[in-house]
Amino acid sequence: MTADSSNKVPNHIAIIMDGNGRWAQQRGKPRLEGHKAGSETVRCVMEYCRDAGVRYLTLYAFSTENWSRPDDEMKGLMLLLSSFIKRYEKELIERKVRLRVIGRRSDLPAHVLDPLEKVEKATAQFETQLIVALSYSGRSELVHAVKSIASRVASGELTVDDVDEDLITNNLYAPDVPDPDLIIRTSGEMRVSNFLLWQCAYSEFFITDVLWPDFREDEFKRALVVYSRRQRRFGGVAEC
Ligand code: IPE
Ligand code: IPE
Ligand code: MG
Repeated sequence: MTADSSNKVPNHIAIIMDGNGRWAQQRGKPRLEGHKAGSETVRCVMEYCRDAGVRYLTLYAFSTENWSRPDDEMKGLMLLLSSFIKRYEKELIERKVRLRVIGRRSDLPAHVLDPLEKVEKATAQFETQLIVALSYSGRSELVHAVKSIASRVASGELTVDDVDEDLITNNLYAPDVPDPDLIIRTSGEMRVSNFLLWQCAYSEFFITDVLWPDFREDEFKRALVVYSRRQRRFGGVAEC
C-alpha cells in the first residue's frame, strides 16, 4: 500500500504505546523486558515520523493511573526513562527536535525530571517536537486548566464571560501544540485511557493489534495510508 497523497501526512501524531506487558508475558519474561523492548520502538518511530515529515509526535509514556502498578515496575520504568533521555539527548539536539513534557511534573522523581528539563531547555528553539506525556491524564490536565482560570477569575483579572474554548486551550500543558490529527493505539484496546481528552475532539483513530514492542515501519506506514484515506468532516458535510 502507498499513501494516496503526500499532503495528507498528519501534522501531529499521538500514540498510546500499549502492550509492553503482554509482549513480555508471551515470551515468559518480566514485564520490564517489555518496556525495554518498547523503548527501542520509540527510537524507531521517531525516525519514521521524521522521514514522513510529521512535525509533532506525542507519546503517552506513563499515565497518572499507572502509579497504581507494582513498585518494581514503576521504579524500573522511571529508570528506563532517565537512561533513555540521557542516551538520546545528543541525538535530539543534533536532529533539531524539541523535547517537551506534559503531565504532572511534580509527581516525577528528580532523576527523571532533571535530565528531562535539561533537554527541554537545550532544545527549546527547535520547531519539530517530541512531546512526552508523563504522569499524564486528560482529566488532570483539565483540572490544572480550570484551576488556573478560576484563580484568575477570583483575582478579578478575568470574568466568567472570558471563559471560552480558546481560554481553556491556552491553559493546557502545551497550549501552542495543535490537536493531534491521528491517534494510534497499539495492542488492540478500543479505549482512550484518559489521553488528550480535550485535544482529541476531531482526531482520527488507528487501532492496531500489533503490540508496541513489535510496532515497526510497515504498520506505521499502514496507519498513514489509512489516515490519508479518511475523510475528515469536522461536523460539516462530505465533499463530492
Ligand atoms: C504500555 O504497556 C506501557 C505503559 C502503560 C507504561 P503496558 O505495560 O500497559 O502493557 P500491557 O497492556 O500490560 O500489555
Ligand atoms: C495507557 O495504557 C497508558 C499508556 C500507554 C502510558 P494502559 O495500559 O495504562 O491503559 P489501560 O489500563 O489498558 O486502559
Ligand atoms: Mg496496557
